[in-house]
Amino acid sequence: MDVLEAIKGRRSVRAFKSDKNVSEKTVEELIDAARWAPSAGNIQPWEFIVVRKPETKSRLAEAAFKQSFIDEAPVVIVVCADENRSSLGYGQRGKTFYCIQDTAAAIQNIHLAAYSLGLGTCWVGAFEEEGAREILKIPQGIRPVALIPVGHPLKFPSPRTKRAVSEIVHREVFHVE
Ligand SMILES: Cc1cc2nc3c(=O)[nH]c(=O)nc-3n(C[C@H](O)[C@H](O)[C@H](O)COP(=O)(O)O)c2cc1C
Repeated sequence: MDVLEAIKGRRSVRAFKSDKNVSEKTVEELIDAARWAPSAGNIQPWEFIVVRKPETKSRLAEAAFKQSFIDEAPVVIVVCADENRSSLGYGQRGKTFYCIQDTAAAIQNIHLAAYSLGLGTCWVGAFEEEGAREILKIPQGIRPVALIPVGHPLKFPSPRTKRAVSEIVHREVFHVE
């Protein structure tokens, strides 16, 4: 699939077919796409937890303020950022800034790759971090950044409105209207 087609066609999917699984091979394909993301100093501070157990998914949905569609996807990929790894290279800026940016780029790769394979995903950032940490036994220094439910979409939502280029672009300096 053409990259611009994927960028423009992807939607946040929050309803999945209950009778269709996502194979482990496909999940690895998504994580393979993630690891090709750029990262500051090529430090690659990302880690991925693949969750399939219904009980764990339902606890994650609970920690995500009862966003029940998380529970309905056959698999949830939890993308984490290793602050320690980034701070070794870049100190405080690595820990608080690069680490999250790098991981966000990996997350977007997962969404685009999933879309190109006909799968639906949603970037879930609204969750209790300490809750997710406890459920998934994530050690200190590693931050869960996004929960990504992955499944076969029941439907692709229509596009959300996006701010126009003319509204967001500044030429030479930041202009305030
Ligand atoms: C950092 C971040 C956090 C988000 N958290 C949630 C979330 O907790 N629950 C949810 O349903 N969608 C979440 N979204 C998805 C957005 O709602 C969605 O991307 C936005 O409405 C635009 O829709 P689109 O992805 O279909 O273009 C999140 C997206 C981002 C980038």
